[in-house]
Amino acid sequence: MEISRLKSMKGLQAITMITAYDFNTAQILEEIQIDVILVGDSLGNVVYGFESTQNVTMEMMIRHTEAVRRGALTSFIVADMPYGSDEPEAFALENARKLMGAGADAIKIEGKADVAKYLVENKIHVMGHVGLLPQTASDMKVQGKDSASANHILTEAKALDKAGCFAVVLEMIPSELGDTITKSISVPTIGIGAGKFCDGQVLVVNDILGMVENFHPKFVKRYAELNNNATKAIKEYIRDVKAGEFPDDEHSFD
Ligand code: KIV
Repeated sequence: MEISRLKSMKGLQAITMITAYDFNTAQILEEIQIDVILVGDSLGNVVYGFESTQNVTMEMMIRHTEAVRRGALTSFIVADMPYGSDEPEAFALENARKLMGAGADAIKIEGKADVAKYLVENKIHVMGHVGLLPQTASDMKVQGKDSASANHILTEAKALDKAGCFAVVLEMIPSELGDTITKSISVPTIGIGAGKFCDGQVLVVNDILGMVENFHPKFVKRYAELNNNATKAIKEYIRDVKAGEFPDDEHSFD
């Protein structure tokens, strides 16, 4: 996917983006040709089990971006700049180049239009991110519900557009605000909990596959119940081993 093609999809064709953190998932996404793969810093939560994405390091992002690129040789990959890696500007550029070196086609930063502008001026493709910013949010609630906060988010999105971002993620805002922003900026908006009027949608792959039993945020639709399936499968394996039924002849060498 070329950046120009992605931008041309605005308003015409919904853009699909999903996170991936590992080689196997990347292979699936490459095979089905998702528009964009995001190596999100949500890996801090779903891969490493941290409470906060603030614990995610550049080292982790580099390793996981490399793994995803090995599994998705031709896909368009965006890598998140982890907390603390995107300021000051020169440090942000150094880190963005490391993520590109690891296989990313573009990077994503939360807020910070001035940094986005500097990176774009230095030939880095940047995806913006407004609304709920998980790296610095005090709690994970819907943003932009009152007019002051809605205006602030709209202004930020416009600043990211002006800074040269090729797309902007809108996270956890009312649908109407998602619609207003989508109509107010020139580049595609990609929503997560931002309603149906965005130019595209992104979700965390672990969430849509139902990998966590009791995690049901309103904006996530579960397309599978892998937690239940995995639990059932592993219980059967344990039962078979305890009963002496595995390995059987079919799974043994002569
Ligand atoms: O890290 C992530 O997965 C993200 C998405 C939620 C947009 O930033």
